[in-house]
Amino acid sequence: MSRFVAKSLDGYKKLYDESINSPETFWAEFSKNEFSWIRHWDSVFTFDWSKAKFSWFAGAKVNITQNCIDRHLEKNGQKTAILFEPDDPNEKSQHISYQNLFEEVNKTANMLKSMGAKKGDRICLYMPMIPELAFSVLACAKIGAIHSVVFAGFSSKSLSNRINDAKCRFLITSDGGLRGEKITPLKKIADQALELCPSIEKVVVVRRAKNEITMKAGRDFWWDALIENQSKECQVEIMDAEDPLFILYTSGSTGKPKGMVHSSAGYMVYTNFSFRNVFQYKPNQIYWCTADIGWITGHSYIIYGPLSAGATTVMFEGVPNYPNPGRFWEIIDKHKINIFYTAPTAIRSLASHGQNQLKNKRLSTLEVLGTVGEPINEEAWQWYFEHIGKHNCPIVDTWWQTETGGIMISNLANVTPHKATFATLPLPGIQVNLLDKDGRELKETDAEGNLCIKHPWPSMARTIYGDHQRFINTYFSRFPKHYFTGDGAKRDADGNYRITGRVDDIVIVSGHNLGTAEIENIINQHPSVAESAVVGYPHKKKGNAIYAFVQLKTQDQIQNFNAEINALVSKTLGPICKPEKVQTCLALPKTRSGKIMRRILRKIASNDLENLGDVSTLLNPACIDEIKENRIND
Ligand code: WTA
Repeated sequence: MSRFVAKSLDGYKKLYDESINSPETFWAEFSKNEFSWIRHWDSVFTFDWSKAKFSWFAGAKVNITQNCIDRHLEKNGQKTAILFEPDDPNEKSQHISYQNLFEEVNKTANMLKSMGAKKGDRICLYMPMIPELAFSVLACAKIGAIHSVVFAGFSSKSLSNRINDAKCRFLITSDGGLRGEKITPLKKIADQALELCPSIEKVVVVRRAKNEITMKAGRDFWWDALIENQSKECQVEIMDAEDPLFILYTSGSTGKPKGMVHSSAGYMVYTNFSFRNVFQYKPNQIYWCTADIGWITGHSYIIYGPLSAGATTVMFEGVPNYPNPGRFWEIIDKHKINIFYTAPTAIRSLASHGQNQLKNKRLSTLEVLGTVGEPINEEAWQWYFEHIGKHNCPIVDTWWQTETGGIMISNLANVTPHKATFATLPLPGIQVNLLDKDGRELKETDAEGNLCIKHPWPSMARTIYGDHQRFINTYFSRFPKHYFTGDGAKRDADGNYRITGRVDDIVIVSGHNLGTAEIENIINQHPSVAESAVVGYPHKKKGNAIYAFVQLKTQDQIQNFNAEINALVSKTLGPICKPEKVQTCLALPKTRSGKIMRRILRKIASNDLENLGDVSTLLNPACIDEIKENRIND
């Protein structure tokens, strides 16, 4: 075991101090011995906050896929790398060994090369949770192509926006995705998107749902046909440490999603480091993260982190409540899962189904539980701890972001203590600061403020694709010499952090990060809408839900207005973005400079009607009473 994996609270403290006092030697020593490098670095890190330029391991040559697969073959070739559990419980699960994975990834890489793909090309992956998605991700990385995975729940418009932003040359998709008994017609959605995407040259289609699709001659090719005669050997592309590894889009507050760009070496180092420390993975354990690879959690903790650590990682195609709400627990028993990592929204939703789902479920192999994606409320935490962990499993509450690449604040399983609703302590290497609104550091332990990071870390995003100025503005302008997370946090007397939620205009619904501006843009496209303001409010199952306040162009009542808005949002952005409540109002509260006062609407949406704060600065304070009066109750 590496000395860089903490084994006790004291050990954690020592490691943490070491990482802060001499970050350069800390990261150099860890990285040198734990990975296979083609060439070592010239400098561990350099940074310039004002330009938001960060580099890690500059001068080094490396390939992340080689580190995730090839180097494990000699010792662990027969070990299961990916354990695939299909949507249909009656379909056989697949154990893909490291040797199998090596061959499949090489064939996929050769297929991509035969289509003309090369280092630096962007390849969009719009796929269900099937092994071919993992092969594609790792194959892109093997040949140095930049993958841009788009979650398969997104609409054609969201897909085309993302393809165009990154100017992808290739798209890999499938005929359809299986979700419970339903089929998502992915190829059909992609066809619509591609009408707007001139950069796409070729499309590869995996046969999965067997739904009927159309193939465009010269553009569309079946995966099976292309892959058939590809060689099982493929040279790795030698990547510079700072070469981009992937782009992943996350919601922004101006409406346009941000293509976060991650690097090759720093991302590899930190996802490995954080995976091993947080989950304390031991050889032979079976690890399951229920996220979709379309999100950062899937990138870092289904694929890259676990595989670079030589783990067995489970990939689940289906949904938690199909064929019944006991599905997760059934899978845990079936595959003898030891480490289970999911989202608070899944826990809340399953907990609401009662205890029947747990009948005849042993759950006795579980050793570690985890959560990610949003603050976990006390009730959900206790249910998880009692009914799933049987009081025996620590819960790692992992706080991080698409932008951070890896887990930043979390307890380490059985090493540092958990505390319900707290993400607890920063990982070694992560220097957290709480700043007040004027940028003053809150030095006392017991404090609440803006959550910021004051030293670069290896897996931080390097830029927003095509818009470095936006990267600077969003993350590095609010507070000088700090990365601003956009989250607020509290710190208790022992230094444990509790995330209080977003301080900007992003709402986390069922663990999905939605930009309110993006949703407003769509609602505003409705011909009768003058203006809209979208805010989040606490929701029992979803964590947060969307409340849309809409000002119409005329006072006339419009029949089926809510249904039309819902359909519009679903179609353009995807069903997860649908507002739970739509309230029409005579006017939206505005500041004198014309900005909508979302702060007030957020309070009204949360039914916090008494504490609206100072409304005297509003341009039109009278509109508040009307909005309060017509508030939609649960
Ligand atoms: C929220 C997901 C509280 C937070 C990995 C963050 C959390 C945003 C937690 C990033 C947690 C994530 N406790 N809040 N354990 N984990 N968040 O980019 O607001 O999809 O800024 O990355 O989710 O969401 P993203």
